[in-house]
Amino acid sequence: MPAIASSAPAKAILFGEHAVVFGYPAIAVPINELKTRVAIFALPQATPGQVKISSPMIGMDTTMDQLDPADPMARLFELIKKHFSITHFPACQIQIQSAIPVGSGLGSGASVSVAFLRALSSFMGSPLGDEDVCAYAFEIEKIHHATPSGIDNTVITYEKPVLYRKKKPISILKVKKPFELVIANSGPKESTSKTVASIREKHDQDPFLYDHYFESIGRITRNAALAIKRGDLDTLGSLFNDNQAILNKMGLSTAHIDELIEIALNSGAKGAKLTGAGKGGFVIALVDQKTRERVFRKLQDAGATDIHITTIGAPRLTQHEK
Ligand code: MEV
Repeated sequence: MPAIASSAPAKAILFGEHAVVFGYPAIAVPINELKTRVAIFALPQATPGQVKISSPMIGMDTTMDQLDPADPMARLFELIKKHFSITHFPACQIQIQSAIPVGSGLGSGASVSVAFLRALSSFMGSPLGDEDVCAYAFEIEKIHHATPSGIDNTVITYEKPVLYRKKKPISILKVKKPFELVIANSGPKESTSKTVASIREKHDQDPFLYDHYFESIGRITRNAALAIKRGDLDTLGSLFNDNQAILNKMGLSTAHIDELIEIALNSGAKGAKLTGAGKGGFVIALVDQKTRERVFRKLQDAGATDIHITTIGAPRLTQHEK
């Protein structure tokens, strides 16, 4: 029996990726079908301070002391030590399991950070609140992605659809009519930090053009937030396509992403786009009860993997609701 277990979802950005790094709004949702789970077992017989860690999805089987200090996991331990003003942990075994494909645009790194921070702080007897979890996970995002906007750690911590803007209070989106997405992996993706750096470079070279792209994406995102609040799914679908058209112009799509999007639209999806940093990774398609099976099958036939159908909705309100 684990002494403590904690989980965190994956995330998908619906609108506004990349523009969000430059201060424009973006919309992201938790994907609850894909989770990271962290279990911690006390090892009362072991030497105090001994912390074993296993994480099969990245082939990790080590101890805390053997971690490179620059490793995100080592930094997570340091943040918790500092928070609790301790020098070592009670001996334990930490098991990390994740169903989220690593480096595919679904926030696997932020999900591990959030589940890990929750589990380890609970193991220490005082679970961190959402604000601390989100802030510490953001510190780790900086190691993973150099200049992250903060959207991944935010949506994964709060587990609600969010309209996110850098350095602004979190705004949780009310979903009037729950909607369904098919999500599918197009295949390997370039690293997020590399892709974000390449967009920054392009922006530096042609600020007029890239500011225009970001402003257009910002407008699409604000309209999408309204469509979600009103339950206008036809408009939402066409806004997916509008956002994708700009991401495509920014060079973030690939031939396979384009192919999967075309197949999803031809199979009845109301809209489709890449999600996350792009240059590979996941695509999302807005479907309904009539179209979801066909879109799923056709994407599978076209070679997409890790295909899931997920419902985005707001079953319960929290104090963060706006
Ligand atoms: C990555 O999930 C989304 C980007 O907008 C980067 C970021 O927001 O940090 C590409």
